[in-house]
Amino acid sequence: MTVSRGQRVYDWWADHQRLFRLLSEAAFGGRHDELRSRSVGALRLNAGERVLDVACGPGVNFDRLAYPVGPEGRVVGVDYSAAMVRRGRRRARGDDRVSVLRGDAERLPVSDGAFDAAYSSLSVSAMADPERALREAYRVLRPGGRVVVLDAQPYQSGPGRLVNPLVNRVSAWATNWRPDVNVPALLDEVFDESDAETFNAGTLFIGVGRKRA
Ligand SMILES: C[S@@+](CC[C@H](N)C(=O)[O-])C[C@H]1O[C@@H](n2cnc3c(N)ncnc32)[C@H](O)[C@@H]1O
Repeated sequence: MTVSRGQRVYDWWADHQRLFRLLSEAAFGGRHDELRSRSVGALRLNAGERVLDVACGPGVNFDRLAYPVGPEGRVVGVDYSAAMVRRGRRRARGDDRVSVLRGDAERLPVSDGAFDAAYSSLSVSAMADPERALREAYRVLRPGGRVVVLDAQPYQSGPGRLVNPLVNRVSAWATNWRPDVNVPALLDEVFDESDAETFNAGTLFIGVGRKRA
């Protein structure tokens, strides 16, 4: 795999975990645990299901995803950063329901219909081609499968918009973020049904996409 700028950026973050944690807490505006749990809840996972964590990073979602699928379920993380994959595998050690693959979300190394659910947090908007990644998520879901995307977007209204130019530039440089991408609209285009809920003055959203049964 040739190493892109995005992979280099996230290899760096993988080696600076404390800063990475601060970054994601800042992105959540004080609602880190609450919104991660709420978004996993929106997947409505059942015991025994297989769930894909797309662009899993160091595996912060693994426990939340593994709990509802229970002892017969499976959690598979995929990430294109070699250093993030190492972190994720370290975190998954000791839980044989959880595994981590290195791969590109835009070309998932996974067969059609292999998963009941897919989840992605703070990642789709940092991808080179988010629509392609969502089409891949659709492909790997079984009929009736669903995806949840928890992600950030610029202020959509109000005085917060004044800081958008600065935040957008810094985030694009530091995290490969693409603030211009409208993920809820893409979910609507790619999936058979979709909806989205926003939080923190519209800067965070939980988008759900469902594949027809
Ligand atoms: C901000 S981190 C979020 C990690 C984790 N999902 C979380 O919520 O903490 C973004 C992650 O997306 C991964 N990523 C970005 N583009 C990707 C792609 N095309 N394929 C796979 N992983 C990708 C990065 O390597 C990084 O681990």
